[in-house]
Amino acid sequence: SLVHEWSGISSLETILTRQFKIQKVIIVPGNNDIEPSVKTLMGTEAANELERLANGKKTVAVTGGSTVSAIAESLTPSNKFSQLQFIAARGGIGEEMQLQANTIASVFASKTGGTYRTLYLPEYLSENAYSTMMQEPIVREMMDLYEQTDIVIHGIGSAEEMAVRRNSSPEDLQALQSFGAVGEAFGYYFDETGKAVHRIRTVGIQLEQVHKCPSILAVAGGTSKAKAILSYIKNPAAQTILITDLGAAEEMIKLL
Ligand code: BG6
Repeated sequence: SLVHEWSGISSLETILTRQFKIQKVIIVPGNNDIEPSVKTLMGTEAANELERLANGKKTVAVTGGSTVSAIAESLTPSNKFSQLQFIAARGGIGEEMQLQANTIASVFASKTGGTYRTLYLPEYLSENAYSTMMQEPIVREMMDLYEQTDIVIHGIGSAEEMAVRRNSSPEDLQALQSFGAVGEAFGYYFDETGKAVHRIRTVGIQLEQVHKCPSILAVAGGTSKAKAILSYIKNPAAQTILITDLGAAEEMIKLL
């Protein structure tokens, strides 16, 4: 029955919250691998959390990805939201336009009546280009915003899928494999032990800045992402709120 299903879900939420030692786990019914509509459900939960956190002027860094993108459907204009400034968590433009952080930041702003800041840079920068970029005023401004970010909203991907989606070179793919990369979030790749083993050289929020941030919403579901979510959540910031689905949650319990 529905009641049973719900009590099952809420006890799973409690178990995983304790296990991960994070602020909260929210589980929506279904499996994103099979039913794409599950993204909308996760998006609604994320939008509700954002509404709860939104009081006063706040800077919200958002990553790309189809899961974070789906939050937009549940965002509506409100006085609380209109004080938010959305920024792209990374400047990289390696992915399809609809999935890029820059696009998502601007869509969130237009949905809520908030403002946005974008930064369009190539996905992969050479060491020279990177250090030159870091001296550019617009990049420095963005780095300052990352330092003052109040809320981070990000997706989590499987390392392999993300490397392919970002057109990583065969050498990079091999390197990721040899590092044991399992999961990916905001341009960082994590191994099974939760260690960040690789970072794309691009202008974006740093892992330390995410960890310092007062609120973190991590949104990812589907059985196929269970390992990736575990690799990210292994070394978590205590203030993390994980929004996932039953498919991923049940698989994570099995893998624990
Ligand atoms: C990327 C984000 O764009 O999307 C990552 O930078 C995330 O943080 C990934 O891992 C997830 O994508 P999706 O489409 O599976 O939600």
